[in-house]
Amino acid sequence: LSQESQDMLSAHEWLTKLYHHLLRFTKEGKEGYAYLKERGIDEEAADAFQLGFSPNADQFTAEFLKKKGYHEQLLVKAGLLQINESGQTSDRFRGRIIFPIRNHLGKTVAFGGRAVGDYKPKYINSPESELFHKGKLLYNFDLAKRYIRKENEAVLLEGQMDVIAAYQAGVRNAVATLGTALTEFQAKLLKRYVNTVIICYDGDRAGLDAAYKAAVLLQQCGCEVRVAYLEPDMDPDSFIRTHGGQAFKDEVIKASDTFMTFYMRFLKKDYQLNLEADRIEYVEAVLKRLAMVDSPIEREYYLKELSNEFEISMDALQDEISGYREKIG
Ligand code: GTP
Ligand code: MN
Ligand code: MN
Ligand code: MN
Ligand code: MN
Repeated sequence: LSQESQDMLSAHEWLTKLYHHLLRFTKEGKEGYAYLKERGIDEEAADAFQLGFSPNADQFTAEFLKKKGYHEQLLVKAGLLQINESGQTSDRFRGRIIFPIRNHLGKTVAFGGRAVGDYKPKYINSPESELFHKGKLLYNFDLAKRYIRKENEAVLLEGQMDVIAAYQAGVRNAVATLGTALTEFQAKLLKRYVNTVIICYDGDRAGLDAAYKAAVLLQQCGCEVRVAYLEPDMDPDSFIRTHGGQAFKDEVIKASDTFMTFYMRFLKKDYQLNLEADRIEYVEAVLKRLAMVDSPIEREYYLKELSNEFEISMDALQDEISGYREKIG
């Protein structure tokens, strides 16, 4: 590690401790702590995730770190300070709740900052740096990996608040992509640890589309994929707040769909299934995908589902799919 990277790391370490202390024990952090409490986060989770608060002052972080001997230039490079048009620096995360973003070794390499309340942007993250490559890291992987190994299963979520809510619900094998698309690097990282990945993204359109892309990528990397269903207005955090942690485990995670079942549901958005022509096209599209499934038992299972739902004979479906399978070879 270069001297510069080491200095950046130690600056992040100082700030992680400082922001956390401010949140937990001082009046400067009260606003942030009250917000987290209101959202149901308890002290144990706040400590485990080292949640913090960055005071609402332009130069608070800058002054603290300069006193410790860090150069302004380094702090800008690490993304802890930002520069305005006239060249002045100020605290990037001022007035925000701080989520330290730790690498797999548990070292803070970046921060996420959430506004207290409804301000925009809702979240800001550290920019990419020598330390932080967003696409190579999964939030909470450092704490989750032993549970991921033990259970041979990982739960993939969208955001920090989802991971923390899951943690409080006793789901310790959850990680998140911090709102960006899953990368091949992250998919391969997961594959090294597990057989099965359960995707539980937000129930909205964006979450559904992102879940589909992540599912395809994970499958290509050799993972068995399951996808959990949430109502369109829910994410894991709001589900747990509304229905409780036990319901999340039993009715969402354990009840997650296989990839194929998810795909059959996902694909329906492109068709008007009250129209005969669309019904036929939909069935054909599903069969094309199903043709790629190697297990005859699995194929038969989904063919039966289609047969029942669309009142098409198994013979006709078998006929059609064997055509597609020949093409694949
Ligand atoms: P809460 O509103 O606090 O519950 O957050 P959320 O996790 O439900 O947010 P959302 O589903 O909108 O986004 C998922 C994740 O994307 C968040 O956890 C953030 O990591 C990230 N994200 C959300 N909004 C922004 C944004 O405005 N800017 C950036 N850079 N990231 C964002
Ligand atoms: Mn958003
Ligand atoms: Mn979302
Ligand atoms: Mn969300
Ligand atoms: Mn949320």
